[in-house]
Amino acid sequence: MDQRHLSHKDTVNLGSFYTPEWLVDIVYDLIRKHVPAHDTYYILDTSCGYGGFLRGDKAIGADIDKKAIETARSTLPNYTYFQHNSLFDISRSKYRLDKNAKMIIVGNPPYNDTTSIIRSDIKQVKFDRDADIYSRDLGISFLMSYDKLEADYVCVLHPLSYLIKKANFEALWQFRNHYKLTDAVVFSSGVFSATSKTTSFPIIIAFYERNNAGMDYQYIQDYKFKTQDGKEFSINQFDSIGHYVSKYPNHKAVSEEDTVAYFYTMRDINALKRTATFLTKENYNAVRVTEQKLPYYCYVDVFKDFIPHIPYYFGNSDIMIDDAGFKEMADLFMARSLQKHPNLKFPGRTKTYNDQDKQIEGYFRHLLGVHYVD
Ligand SMILES: C[S@@+](CC[C@H](N)C(=O)[O-])C[C@H]1O[C@@H](n2cnc3c(N)ncnc32)[C@H](O)[C@@H]1O
Repeated sequence: MDQRHLSHKDTVNLGSFYTPEWLVDIVYDLIRKHVPAHDTYYILDTSCGYGGFLRGDKAIGADIDKKAIETARSTLPNYTYFQHNSLFDISRSKYRLDKNAKMIIVGNPPYNDTTSIIRSDIKQVKFDRDADIYSRDLGISFLMSYDKLEADYVCVLHPLSYLIKKANFEALWQFRNHYKLTDAVVFSSGVFSATSKTTSFPIIIAFYERNNAGMDYQYIQDYKFKTQDGKEFSINQFDSIGHYVSKYPNHKAVSEEDTVAYFYTMRDINALKRTATFLTKENYNAVRVTEQKLPYYCYVDVFKDFIPHIPYYFGNSDIMIDDAGFKEMADLFMARSLQKHPNLKFPGRTKTYNDQDKQIEGYFRHLLGVHYVD
């Protein structure tokens, strides 16, 4: 079921990328596995579109989009529907659920960064949100709304970056204080046909249990994420470049005299895919590179060439490094980087190595192990 009734503009505005059924099946597999008597629970999707996530006897769907709710009502008439803004005036009574009703929230809320500059001309959010769930990202607001509704379980799709990026995780605030991730499957955003294929990012089907201890960032870093294609990874299995160099503008810490090169800000692997590495002059996004740290920046410059060998599920992760392995061959990384940027004046390095590229490839194969994409 595609969001046929919407123009491209409204699809982006509302984050209306409807979910294929095989992903909904995974949601229900997780629910069956962890909630034995799940049929005694209300199923609620507060951003239900055509109702693709609604199943069982007691399902409730809501959406801000009138036409979507009309379609859901006519194709799945046995469920209860509300056409409203689910992020405003949030309460159980909005769904005619009382305090004691047992409830599981499912769905695929919109994930729009409302301040994003990409296509900002059409990303105008035209509805209000309760102040206590406000976030620059709509999807984060939706997660916070599930906490306000005090769902017993939440099993929804959302970008993995909400959990693994520390600033996002902190922004989840009450949600992370009251819910614990207990099971998850990661897949690629590329499965949504209407979204960009060139920069696929990881999406998680996350199963959360309400629990007063919640979870902290360490828990997420240690968490073993499973992917839909049978891989397993955790965020702390790699060392990251941020432990060795500045990833962001550092002109307050490094003087102009100590600067031998400039490098573009490093956000994550997907960002590096799109941005420059070495810059010829300083700008607002430039990081100052000292002679001592230069090899690490050459490393990142070469890392960029190997991004095609890195799977989508690391797209929002930091640039990873095996520092000991890198140190053994730092000269090779520098040589390769120098060849890429002949007009950069790296102090004292001109050597080239015969089997440089083979050795560098070997480094990345070793670094990524089973995750290396051939
Ligand atoms: C990613 S789609 C998911 C639709 C459906 N759950 C599915 O996966 O097929 C997100 C839905 O959220 C709805 N939406 C966006 N903002 C909303 C809001 N503030 N309140 C209720 N629904 C909203 C959109 O209209 C859209 O149908």
